[in-house]
Amino acid sequence: MNSLKTIPAHVAIIMDGNGRWAKQRGKERYEGHLAGVDAVRSAVRSAVRNGVKWLTLYAFSTENWARPIAEVEAIMQLFCKTVVGEGDELARQGVRVRIMGERTHFSPEVISMIERIESTTAEGDKLTLVLAFNYSARREMVLAAQTLAKRVAEGEIKAEDISEEHFSAALMTADIPDPDFIIRTSGECRLSNFLLWQASYAEFYFPEVLWPDFGEEEFDAAMAVYAERDRRYGKVIEE
Ligand code: FPP
Repeated sequence: MNSLKTIPAHVAIIMDGNGRWAKQRGKERYEGHLAGVDAVRSAVRSAVRNGVKWLTLYAFSTENWARPIAEVEAIMQLFCKTVVGEGDELARQGVRVRIMGERTHFSPEVISMIERIESTTAEGDKLTLVLAFNYSARREMVLAAQTLAKRVAEGEIKAEDISEEHFSAALMTADIPDPDFIIRTSGECRLSNFLLWQASYAEFYFPEVLWPDFGEEEFDAAMAVYAERDRRYGKVIEE
C-alpha cells in the first residue's frame, strides 16, 4: 500500500504512444500494441498496490475503427487473447473486469470473450478494471439523451425535472464514480472523446512517456503528482 496521503479512488488512462514506440524501434505498429499490453498488466498491478479502487483504460475508441483494417484486427485479436489469457490471474489479484462501450460492431467471438472475463472476475473486490472498448463519450451522451427522452415520452419523468443525477444514471458509467485523475501518456494534451461528462472535476496529467514505457515507477510518480494537487471543485477553501 502507498504511504501518500491522497490516493485517487478512480484513475483513468488514455494509453497513447504505442505506434510511436514501435516506429522508434523500427517495428510494426502491432508490436507497439503488444508492448502496450505489458504496460496494462503493470498498471493493474500498480493500481492494486497503491489502493486505487477503479482503473479505467481507454483501449479502443469508436474512432479507432477508421484505422487500417489490419491494425484494427490486430488490436481485436490482442484484446481477445489478453482478456481470455488473463482472466484467472486478474481474479487471483482481486480484480473485477468490466468492458464499457457499445457492443455493436463486435464479432460473436469478441462478445463471448467479454462475457467470459466479466463472469470469471465478477467477485474481485480490490480493483475494478474498466476497459473502454468501442467507446465514445459523445455517443454515450447521445444514448443517455435517448434513454431520458423515452422515459419522458412514457410519462415516467417530466422533461423539466431531468437533473444531473438522472443524466449520470443514464450513462454507461452509471454505477462508477467520476474519475479523480486522468492520465494521458505520450505528451498529447487532449481528451479525444473520453469521459467528457465524467471528467468535469478530474485532475489531469500528461507525462511525455509513451504508453509501453509507462511502468510501475511511472505509475507511482503519477500518484505522487496527484497527491500534490489541491482540488477545490469550484469552491474557495479557507486556510
Ligand atoms: C494508442 O496508441 C493505443 C491504442 C489505440 C490501442 C491500445 C490497445 C492496447 C494497449 C492493446 C489492447 C488492450 C487491452 C486492454 C488488452 P496509438 O496507436 O494511437 O499510438 P501513436 O499515437 O503513437 O500512433
